[in-house]
Amino acid sequence: MEIKVSKTNSSKLKSVDFNNLQFGRIFSDHMFVADYENGEWSNLQIVPFSEFSLSPASATLHYGQTIFEGLKAFRDKNQEVVLFRPEYNWERFCQSAHRMCMAEVPKEVFMNGLRKLLEIDQEWVPKREGSSLYIRPYMFADEEFLGVKPSSKYKFVIITSPAASYYSGAVKVKVEKKYVRAAEGGVGMAKNGGNYAASLYPAKLAQDQGFHQLIWTDSKTHEFIEEAGTMNIMAVINDVLLTPSIEKQTVLRGKTRDTILKLARVWGMPVEERPIRVSEIRDAQLNGTLNEVFGAGTAATVAPIATISIDEVSYEIPHLQEGSFSQKVSKYLVDLRLGNVDDEFNWMQKAF
Ligand code: COI
Repeated sequence: MEIKVSKTNSSKLKSVDFNNLQFGRIFSDHMFVADYENGEWSNLQIVPFSEFSLSPASATLHYGQTIFEGLKAFRDKNQEVVLFRPEYNWERFCQSAHRMCMAEVPKEVFMNGLRKLLEIDQEWVPKREGSSLYIRPYMFADEEFLGVKPSSKYKFVIITSPAASYYSGAVKVKVEKKYVRAAEGGVGMAKNGGNYAASLYPAKLAQDQGFHQLIWTDSKTHEFIEEAGTMNIMAVINDVLLTPSIEKQTVLRGKTRDTILKLARVWGMPVEERPIRVSEIRDAQLNGTLNEVFGAGTAATVAPIATISIDEVSYEIPHLQEGSFSQKVSKYLVDLRLGNVDDEFNWMQKAF
């Protein structure tokens, strides 16, 4: 499928301060768009980053049939633009689309659109270490109809944004036992907009108390940790890496999560993907066996957690310890992107 390209004649690149990037505020010059109608994708285009026109009756505005992905483009040590496991994002995008009853985006539309966009906006990939070009593919329902049914029209879009890490410094989280992110049989495994909208109110209550984020618990008992919404949660107790399993589909199938689990196994570290009680984290902290807790996500990368509040009691947990597992894995991932270590899983790819 051919991609039509119309370039901007007023690039914003020169106005960007690449030394002071915030997450998700600045967007590169172009975007990729494609339309789905009558059962097929067409109008594949790279156009200047610009507004859409949308019918006030567009289904997405009413019933939230919308999904997204997040991945990053980096520069390796030779300044080449590289991607990390982009097919994983396409696969998860398809799973989200399936659960939200939306059209599937063919792999070639997703990947070719992404690669062409990166080629055109390659100067937007930051050169500074620790920064990257955050890539946001998304799709929304675009049928003009107020009946509740799957839309017959969709728009698939990719925008990009030069960014530093989502969290800077150690993270303070609160274990949430009243509100719920996902229930079994629900849409927790999908990266749909509504999951994030529903998290805002409980997250705001926590932010008003000085926390960055919540750790969600299971909807039935609130006794088991699930994820943090912007990242998966991992703990090391007694040198065993623990993380909630994704089996019940209430936890997002994170790419960073999957990567870290594979690395830990190859490095010979014991790994357990299983239900984790909140009390297990608290007891381990109290009896000195908690090595660390950290979040793992594309935007968040590997985010060490400094404070966890459980039932109104705040625990200061070990973080940023020299030689800790999270430090080792962070360093490895940076080296992998730069091309300083052998890419034994073939995770890195040239972007174009
Ligand atoms: C990502 O890590 O790409 C995410 O989806 C988190 C985002 C909601 C900030």
